[in-house]
Amino acid sequence: MSPMPFKTLIEPFRIHAVEPLKMTTPVERRRAVQAAGYNLFALRSEDVLIDLLTDSGTGAMSRDQWASIQHGDESYAGSPSWFRFLESVQDLFPFRHVIPTHQGRAAERILFTALTGPGQSVPSNTHFDTTRANVEFTGAEAVDLLIPEGHDPTAQHPFKGNMDVDALDRFLAAHTGSVPVVFVTITNNSGGGQPVSLANLRAVRKVCDHHGVPLFLDACRFAENAWLIHEREPGQQDREVRDIVRDMASLVDGMTMSAKKDGMANIGGWLALNDDKLAEQCRNLLILTEGFPTYGGLAGRDLEAIAQGLQEVVQHDYLRYRIRSTGYLGDALVKLGIPIVQPAGGHAVYIDARALLPHIPPLQYPGQALAVALYEAGGIRSCEIGTVMFGRHPDGSEHPAELDLVRLAIPRRTYTQSHIDYVIEVCGKVLAQAGELPGYKIVDEPPVLRHFTARFEPLPFQ
Ligand code: F0G
Repeated sequence: MSPMPFKTLIEPFRIHAVEPLKMTTPVERRRAVQAAGYNLFALRSEDVLIDLLTDSGTGAMSRDQWASIQHGDESYAGSPSWFRFLESVQDLFPFRHVIPTHQGRAAERILFTALTGPGQSVPSNTHFDTTRANVEFTGAEAVDLLIPEGHDPTAQHPFKGNMDVDALDRFLAAHTGSVPVVFVTITNNSGGGQPVSLANLRAVRKVCDHHGVPLFLDACRFAENAWLIHEREPGQQDREVRDIVRDMASLVDGMTMSAKKDGMANIGGWLALNDDKLAEQCRNLLILTEGFPTYGGLAGRDLEAIAQGLQEVVQHDYLRYRIRSTGYLGDALVKLGIPIVQPAGGHAVYIDARALLPHIPPLQYPGQALAVALYEAGGIRSCEIGTVMFGRHPDGSEHPAELDLVRLAIPRRTYTQSHIDYVIEVCGKVLAQAGELPGYKIVDEPPVLRHFTARFEPLPFQ
């Protein structure tokens, strides 16, 4: 229950420093996106008005985080900032070993380098692009085992991020000895920012125990996941989010984390685990590429900002506002008749571009078409999560991704409701032109993670 008796949910902060936004014209934006090879990652961010590309590292830090930055101690080894970071992480995630890294994917790379290799498989509810790429880079296979409802954008289910427990059980039975770890991603970013329930996590734990396989969390958005548990899971309504987070941690053997999300910081991450031998192996890899184990790839001031961010991210007033403001955008798009992944996710709203643009076949990238249109119409930068991101396979073949989504990711504490009202208006304008949007072809792409640097050209309208 909200302590406020009014229906308007306000941002639980006021603004302390402002950053100017540059207004651009449609002609300027068309020119900019053409020069960027129709890849929104290649734009200059000053040419973007509302940047919903990602919620990663793009949030606003609090006054107290900026103050903590002044306490940053840059000692190479054993800095007080390290101990504050360690204490703050272990308060929520009481793992024996905490290994700081410069961001989430560095933790993934270290863990998968230590654990996986050719002939092995890593099941997850759904791997995000960097976890999939890091698993595959070691020669192992990344396998997604999501519940059926998670595959249907219109299905209503409170925990569409849940793992398909029976499928996991069957998979582990069929791959004895070749699964070094199971992952659960909270919230499920690639599948619409959908949460995973405590009950599901418990069931996954049981199956992993039965097969003797360790279980890890990809915990980037742990606080949003815990809030959705608090709101939706029977018996959780009176509990503190902190305690729900500790419950999630108690069910797993370790975690990878990007502090750029629910760490409320602009950079950072960590790997945490209980296994002493594996931790030692990981620390040795850490020293090779990230740095000494009491700073990883981070400055002391970054460790301070994360330590403070972790205190703030579990506050109920913040999370109530955060999840409701994402829901506000989702509700408005549904009202306009724009198909989205239902219900709205924790950190983002995902538009079903394949459903919105049925005249564009998946291999002509409807998600890319929509993302470019949103930029051209209103200077909004979004992110394709579909065939561009996932369509190219390690054997070189290309297939349609399961869904073609466009993610409107909301940076934390950064945009106000009027910014979001503007986004809604622009989406309405693009909806009116949907039938006229062209498909795209890729004219240049790298061998992995092609969505970051591929170049596109619009196809003649058919
Ligand atoms: N896992 C998930 C679920 C993520 O969403 C991300 C990053 C990572 C791992 C990797 O973390 O960026 O710190 O290396 N997602 C960002 C996004 C990039 O836009 O969703 P990182």
